[in-house]
Amino acid sequence: MKPIYSFLFLVILFASCAKTETTTRTTQSLSNEWKFINEDITHAQLPETDVSHWETVDIPHDWAIKGPFNKEIDAQKVQVTQDMEKTARLRTGRTGALPHIGVGWYRKTFKVPALMSGQKVLLVFDGAMSDAHVWINGTKVGNHPYGYAYFYFDISEHIKPGQENLLAVRLENKESSSRWYPGAGIYRKVQLIVKNQVNFKQWGTFISTPFVSEEMAQVNIKAEINGEDVKVLTEIKDADGKLVASNTSNEIFGNKTEQNIAVPNPKLWDIETPYLYTATMKLYQGNTLKDEQNIRFGIRSVEYKRGFGLVLNGNVTKFKGVCLHHDLGPLGAAVNKAALKRQLTILKDMGCNAIRSSHNMPSIEQLELCDEMGFIFLAESFDEWAKPKVKNGYNRFFNEWAEKDVVNLVRATRNHPCIVMWSSGNEVPDQWGNEGVKLAKWLQDIFHREDPTRPVTVGMDQVGNTLKNGFGAIMDIPGLNYRLPLYNEAYERFPQGFILGSETASTVSSRGVYKFPVEQAKMKRYDDFQSSSYDLEACSWSNIPDEDFYWQDNFDWVIGEFVWTGFDYLGEPTPYNEAWPSRSSYFGICDLAGLPKDRFYLYRSRWNTTDETLHLLPHWNWQGREGKSTPVFVYTNYNSAELFVNGKSQGIRTKNKETLLTRNRLMWMDVKYEPGTVKVVAFDDDGNAVAEKEMHTAGAPHHVELMADRTNISADGNDLSYITVSVVDKNGNLCPTADNQLSFSVSGAGKFRAVCNGDATSLELFHLPTMKAFCGLLVVTVQAAKNPGEIELEVSGENLQSKKIVINAK
Ligand code: GAL
Repeated sequence: MKPIYSFLFLVILFASCAKTETTTRTTQSLSNEWKFINEDITHAQLPETDVSHWETVDIPHDWAIKGPFNKEIDAQKVQVTQDMEKTARLRTGRTGALPHIGVGWYRKTFKVPALMSGQKVLLVFDGAMSDAHVWINGTKVGNHPYGYAYFYFDISEHIKPGQENLLAVRLENKESSSRWYPGAGIYRKVQLIVKNQVNFKQWGTFISTPFVSEEMAQVNIKAEINGEDVKVLTEIKDADGKLVASNTSNEIFGNKTEQNIAVPNPKLWDIETPYLYTATMKLYQGNTLKDEQNIRFGIRSVEYKRGFGLVLNGNVTKFKGVCLHHDLGPLGAAVNKAALKRQLTILKDMGCNAIRSSHNMPSIEQLELCDEMGFIFLAESFDEWAKPKVKNGYNRFFNEWAEKDVVNLVRATRNHPCIVMWSSGNEVPDQWGNEGVKLAKWLQDIFHREDPTRPVTVGMDQVGNTLKNGFGAIMDIPGLNYRLPLYNEAYERFPQGFILGSETASTVSSRGVYKFPVEQAKMKRYDDFQSSSYDLEACSWSNIPDEDFYWQDNFDWVIGEFVWTGFDYLGEPTPYNEAWPSRSSYFGICDLAGLPKDRFYLYRSRWNTTDETLHLLPHWNWQGREGKSTPVFVYTNYNSAELFVNGKSQGIRTKNKETLLTRNRLMWMDVKYEPGTVKVVAFDDDGNAVAEKEMHTAGAPHHVELMADRTNISADGNDLSYITVSVVDKNGNLCPTADNQLSFSVSGAGKFRAVCNGDATSLELFHLPTMKAFCGLLVVTVQAAKNPGEIELEVSGENLQSKKIVINAK
């Protein structure tokens, strides 16, 4: 098409599109048909490069998760001073032993809708691991180093409207750049936004609710605008789409407009009732609609009160939180909303109300889910500032990029009502020295400038030092990582009037594994590289949950905790840092497959205040321990219970304040093991038997049982069903030591996506359809195709009756 015709064509197209308001901007997700290669190819950005041998992939993508595991990958010889180590040691699985180091190239061709001349085209990345360099049609448009940051480029000048365009992205992960598995590749979504030149600036709108009462809420909207002589019409709609208030503003100060809109009888966003409104904002120049955006927000009041902490909508709300790394176990770092939702569903059932995105920017999908499901959120930014923890960590970029990264974090996420606090760092070595205090103040000021409504914390581990040098005193919220013995002194000497357990516990355990004798221990190692699920083992710097409970229960000025961690994650296999094969964490309340460990029920017995918890441990298959003392623990919300082994009472236990453990656990320390049935009967406070649970010694593995978290999923090409596979005896009892090799075959309207058994020492690959059960269990993930239909999963194993399950994709 000749230029003059193409211009006419654009005008005609625009005229026809402009009839509907939504055509003022288009947002296109660049998710399919990318080309990828894990090699550093010179000139890969140029259009003429032959990519016929490159792999075709979908975004989000993690190039390293398919393995294979290899202990040489990123083996780091380091002395971890945070872990109180005195010498450098070779850590093999520290970053997961998966092949994330190196260069990856991505290319994608796409068409930009030819809306109008002078259009603005933005290319938005939610995150790319890491050091992204981006080209459009062979011309470099920019670079963004931090793998967890959101960033965008204005590519208007480089784009060919109405034609094929070529996007090329080069990523590189260096060795020794992380303390955990960071993933590799474009692991979060990429979007193309096309809008008029007169527009709402990207991430330029901030909605807050400075005044909230039962009768009325003040919704304050500040919007940055590109363009002159404009006016903004804002309509606020409730969750059913009904208009509840509106306002037009034509006062523009510089490039900003501000509206204050009264919403009568507001429904508040809260943990139990996460009510969401939408602001539909239209930008007019004269009478012409130029841009439109819909922003979801919540009406809630957030304050922090001396002596108590967070006051959400007038109610003191303690953080019953967990820290989460960003990987999704067997899916790696590639974001998937169904996987995130499953995690949050499991945590909600535990009574958890808060998430800390350790130690970096969360995915937008995770924030959307927390808005919808009612979790309060601590959004973190960095694990390093100017001083390194790992040689090639963020310290390389801090001076040049930290402000930009914080600005992007705040602007991209500040309208999420779930966020109630920011964190500018985790255990940064800059806690030492005066420079670090200045950096802490500088970063906190940037957060305040971008968002005056939320406070800022840092997870501090050098508490003794931050007490002395002023670092802790300047924080809005002093966050202590572990360091329980310093809580009192920190509260006394810090000026804020409360402290937060920004990181707690770091108890270690392997699901289904129990060790004898049962005793408290630090950095305990066993020959099988597993940790005991009696929940009595921690690290030299950390503690068991009961110690945190003591502080949380007895001092109002302790404003809550974020347990390390909600789920196991790839990398950091403490206390087996130098042991191979050991490639994922033991810290999780749930394992890497998402299966609850016993600890889940300990937290649930305290945090879930509406549902009954009655959980028995260990399992009851102890061939060879007959007659030997085999302690039984019960985690329950009831105060007292009686235990029976084969009908013989082992006595009643009642929670009491004599020891830290007896406050929260019912323990029968010297039960003599005999095969058969172990049963617990729980009593209410009047002594009535109100609930019971029993476990039987299992016979030989006989068949498998399958249980899906969701049997109806969306046929959208992304949705997932997680099917827990249990190896059971002929009576259906879980065989708690079974390690049968199982195989999976998926047919119909979906595919096999991954499998995980939660064993931190397993080198079997997540994407292959076979794996050993670990302690009788594993979890298979199937993914919907784009066409509706039935998905059938069949699980088989040698000498086991196989089973099928059907998932409906609609
Ligand atoms: C903390 C650190 C976490 C993790 C944890 C393990 O000190 O902030 O990232 O390493 O220790 O206990």
